[in-house]
Amino acid sequence: MHFLAIVASERRNGNSDLLGRLAIRYALKVGADSGEMIYLKDYDIKQCRGCLNCISKQQKCRLDDDLYELLDVMKDADKMLLIAPVYVLTIPGKLKMLLDRYLAISKYLSIQDAGHATSIGVAALPEWHQFQLPLMNIVLLSLGRRVVESFIVYGAGPGEVLLNDSVANVQAAVDRLVSYQDERYESVVTRSCPIDFSNIFEHVKGNQYRCPVCLTPARLTEGGFYFDASDLNSHRWTQQKLADHFNNWILQTRPRFKSMLKEIVKKKREMGF
Ligand SMILES: Cc1cc2nc3c(=O)[nH]c(=O)nc-3n(C[C@H](O)[C@H](O)[C@H](O)COP(=O)(O)O)c2cc1C
Repeated sequence: MHFLAIVASERRNGNSDLLGRLAIRYALKVGADSGEMIYLKDYDIKQCRGCLNCISKQQKCRLDDDLYELLDVMKDADKMLLIAPVYVLTIPGKLKMLLDRYLAISKYLSIQDAGHATSIGVAALPEWHQFQLPLMNIVLLSLGRRVVESFIVYGAGPGEVLLNDSVANVQAAVDRLVSYQDERYESVVTRSCPIDFSNIFEHVKGNQYRCPVCLTPARLTEGGFYFDASDLNSHRWTQQKLADHFNNWILQTRPRFKSMLKEIVKKKREMGF
């Protein structure tokens, strides 16, 4: 079993870096056959240009960067740990740039049973990281990973994270990730979504909510939200739902646009573009 830690901080010897290095040590201790740590900053990842060549022409992305090199490293990982600092309530831009390449990524990776992953966000302060875990987990789900666990550790200055219970929490998480076997989701009452760990919910009506990340219905009840097993096992990021979305929406983008082109050109002329 190969264990990969991906550090999405630019800070050398920063909190994410130190926790990533510790995680590799623990992973090897608790049963991983091999461990590797990579820094996202070492990969040149360019911003998606929205040309859609990667899907419509069955080609690789035309951007000349390290995307496929990075995906090859990820492909080899049975277990993946993603560690990222919080930047202005959310993930660092480089991670979002990777996420924006989702179409090219999903064409390239065989995301069926891609493996398991855990995400750890590093924040300076409680109440200053509300979007971190959902966004980190969108990255993992878009890579076809099942998110086993996801949590925040606290530390501001580089190394500060070593002074609290973060180290023990990371150790326990690595242990769980290494030993995790695939299970179907069970019905559960909880305060965060079991798929992507979002604790931000859309209100539908009455006591009905849904997770905006995976669209799983959540019924407000005593002690949290009730999630039903059947809903949890058919969330937005399942292979079947993604295939539907790909075939019925993304692949139809070009013909749909072509069918409207005359009308758009006419409208643009009318509006002086
Ligand atoms: C540009 C920038 C924005 C930040 N925004 C937040 C924030 O919104 N919430 C928070 O808790 N910490 C924030 N921080 C603090 C970092 O998340 C914190 O220092 C963390 O330990 C950095 O991790 P690292 O050492 O792995 O780089 C910010 C730091 C920087 C540099």
